[in-house]
This record gives sequence, C-alpha cells and structure tokens, in this order.
Amino acid sequence: AAAQRRSAWTPWCGCPRAAPPSCSGRPFCSGHEPAGRPRVTPMLRHLTYKIKSTGPITVAEYMKEVLTNPAKGYYMHRDMLGEKGDFITSPEISQIFGELLGIWFVSEWIASGKKAAFQLVELGPGRGTLTGDILRVFSQLGSVLKNCDISVRLVEVSQKLSEIQALTLTKEKIPLEKDAESLEYMKGVSKSGIPVSWYRDLKDVPEGYSFYLAHEFFDALPVHKFQKTPQGWREVFVDIDPQVSDKLRFVLAPCATPAEAFIQRDETRDHVEVCPDAGVLIQELSQRIALTGGAALIADYGHDGTKTDTFRGFCGHKLHDVLIAPGTADLTADVDFSYLRRMAQGKVASLGPIKQKTFLKNMGIDVRLKVLVEKSEEPSVRQQLLEGYDMLMNPVKMGDRFNFFALLPHQRLQGGSREMSAGQSKPSAAPVAGFDELAWE
Ligand SMILES: C[S@@+](CC[C@H](N)C(=O)[O-])C[C@H]1O[C@@H](n2cnc3c(N)ncnc32)[C@H](O)[C@@H]1O
Repeated sequence: AAAQRRSAWTPWCGCPRAAPPSCSGRPFCSGHEPAGRPRVTPMLRHLTYKIKSTGPITVAEYMKEVLTNPAKGYYMHRDMLGEKGDFITSPEISQIFGELLGIWFVSEWIASGKKAAFQLVELGPGRGTLTGDILRVFSQLGSVLKNCDISVRLVEVSQKLSEIQALTLTKEKIPLEKDAESLEYMKGVSKSGIPVSWYRDLKDVPEGYSFYLAHEFFDALPVHKFQKTPQGWREVFVDIDPQVSDKLRFVLAPCATPAEAFIQRDETRDHVEVCPDAGVLIQELSQRIALTGGAALIADYGHDGTKTDTFRGFCGHKLHDVLIAPGTADLTADVDFSYLRRMAQGKVASLGPIKQKTFLKNMGIDVRLKVLVEKSEEPSVRQQLLEGYDMLMNPVKMGDRFNFFALLPHQRLQGGSREMSAGQSKPSAAPVAGFDELAWE
C-alpha cells in the first residue's frame, strides 16, 4: 500500500539546481560537492526516518528541519559566517555598512520626535557584528542620544551564534537564564553600558517603541514551493529516491495541498515560492509599529514577485545541491518583497525595495569611505576599505542583488503629529534617509 501511495507522487526536476548568477544574492563560485563532507549526515538519517514513517515532507518542513532543528540544525551549533565559513555578509565585509544603518536609525528617531527611549531589535544577528557597529555609532553620537534610554533585543535561535554575539557585544560569556519561565534566555550589558537581551521569537520581545532590523534573515525562513501543472498548482515535496540509496529527490504532490491558499489568484508564473513565516513576522512587525511607532529596516536579496525557483544551498562559498548532505550547507531562498508588502496589510507604510547600491549611496557611503581612507595610515587597511566598498556597491557583486525595504508608521510619511509629551519634538515628514537622496555636507 505504501508503494502504491508513493507512486502517485511524480518526480520533479524543476529548474537546474545550480541557479544562474542572477538568482543568487551571495557572491559565490559555482562548484561541485565539496570533498570530505559525508553524504550520509545525521540530518539525512533523521529525515529519511521521518519520510519513511510519515511520507514525503514539504520543502518548508525540509528547510526548517535542516536549518533550525535544535539537535542537528545547520544554524544551531556552528559559526558559518566569514571566509572560513560558508558565506560572508555585508556587515562582515565592511564596518561602513553597520555605521550607515546606525545613522539610519538615529535619523528615524530624530524624524519621529526624539522619544525618550527605544529598543533596537535585531532578527537573526549572526555574529553580532552589525549591532556592534550600530552601537559604536550610537556612542559616537552620544551628544545627540544622551537623554535617550536605549536597549538591545536580539532574536536568535542558535545557541552557538548567541554565544558569539555575547562575546562581540559584551566581551563576556553569558550563562543561559535559569528561570525556565523567562522569555529572555540570556541577558548582559554592552561595552558602552546598553542592556542586551536574547529571545527565541519576536513575539517574546516586549512591545514598545522599537527599531527593528533584519539583515539576511528573511531568506533563511522556510518556503513552500509550487509548480503549475495541467491539473492546477501542485506543491513540491522532498522524498527518498527509490532508485539510489541514501538520496533524496523532489516530487510533486498528487493533489492540492493547504499551503496552496498562499498563491495569488492572478499569479502568472509557473513556479512560485511562498514563505508563510515571513508573512506572520511582517504582520507582527506592522502591528507593533502601527501601535507604538518606530520602524523596521529589512535588507536581503530578493525580488518583487517576479522570480521563480530560487531555493539553493551554499557551502564553502560555493553553490551546493540543496538535497545533498543536509545539515552541512546553508539553505536559502530569495525574499519576495511584494509578498512582504501585501502582508503589511496597509497597517503601516512600506518603502522599497531599493537596491543596496542606491540605499548606501543615499546614506553617504562615499563620504564615509573618503574619511576612513584619509584617516588610515596602513596601506593594507586602505586596500581593505576599498575592496569592501566594491563588494557592497558593485552591481555585479552585492550592489544590485541586495535590496532595502522599510516599514514605517503612516504618520511618519504624512508628518502628522501624535500626542507628544513634554520635551519631545513634533515628528516631521522629512525624507526617509536612504530611500531619498539626501544632501551631504
Ligand atoms: C544568514 S545569517 C545572517 C546573520 C547576520 N544578520 C548577518 O548579516 O551577518 C541568519 C541568522 O538568522 C538566524 N536565524 C535563522 N532562522 C531563524 C529563526 N527562525 N529565528 C531566529 N533566528 C534565526 C541564524 O541563526 C543567523 O543568526
């Protein structure tokens, strides 16, 4: 009966696994399977038991298990960032990236009336480098922020990465909270005296006036994949290959599945990826921003509802077959910004997506680079700054592939006033930094 059931699932070959460069966000070399990595990983064993007992799994379930399974997930117990890891991100490439984002938050704080306190909330902070660079800007702008009570809240599922974040931001190893009831699982104080707390989920972060940041976070969230067939939309699942032992393959579901509800009625593509977890997060962020103010800045590679098969793996800075040696490579899919905009449901205003090279240019990257290059005496440091700039800005590297997208309260763009308490200034409809060209002196 099981064999009969399985025969209703048809193999799906989809687009070629090694996506062309235009599909990729991270700079990469297209490579072969890295030597020395075992094909039969503990994660593959776990997944084959699971599929044997309950049947093929959705791509979303596959991605979630492979990346964040508490025992064997790719993100949970390793540092995968940087030259020795599997990929490198903008904050790891150049300090200027985080500095300009720090200025963006200060600029939004000023434009929305210099409230007495705010939380900086980062989703998926990696090594903590980005928040570290932002906090350095906050310290340098001490005279502007001196009466503002700032706290940092980090949303991170990985035990290993949260330990690294604690070392980056507080210079300390921080023990896990003993109180099992507590929603924050770690807490410490940054080098500049700002309280830092760690959470596993955005919904655990206390509400209140906040600036949210997600850099290369949404692309790690699980996607469902659908293929248009003569019988209608069919979801892509992951199954065991009956021809080859210890090998997985993609199959198409024999009938419609519930996740199909996420596909737009007027969809014209023949293959789509949808990320319900991203929708839930955007709804939560929009609700919070509409109620208590602040803003969200989301930076990632992605498209505006135009691309099809973008699901891919990265290992050792090379493209990697997503079904081979699961748990040893990063899995990612481009962010669909048109879906994020729809999920905001008009509760807040959205800006973007705009290309990274435009956003950083508008934020004054050229001025900052010039200052740093002129200040540095070491030729090697100057060289590093220039190479970092090229990586972030060059259209064929990260400049065109990464996008910036923001959520803001409607009144921020209209310049309407909310009730102000003493000492606060009225919010203005000043241009939003990064999304508009600003005059730099
Ligand atoms: C691609 S890394 C990006 C790191 C960092 N933002 C950067 O740009 O260097 C993704 C980050 O999100 C975290 N992450 C992945 N899935 C998550 C989830 N469901 N909830 C919270 N954090 C998650 C990972 O552990 C990691 O810190």
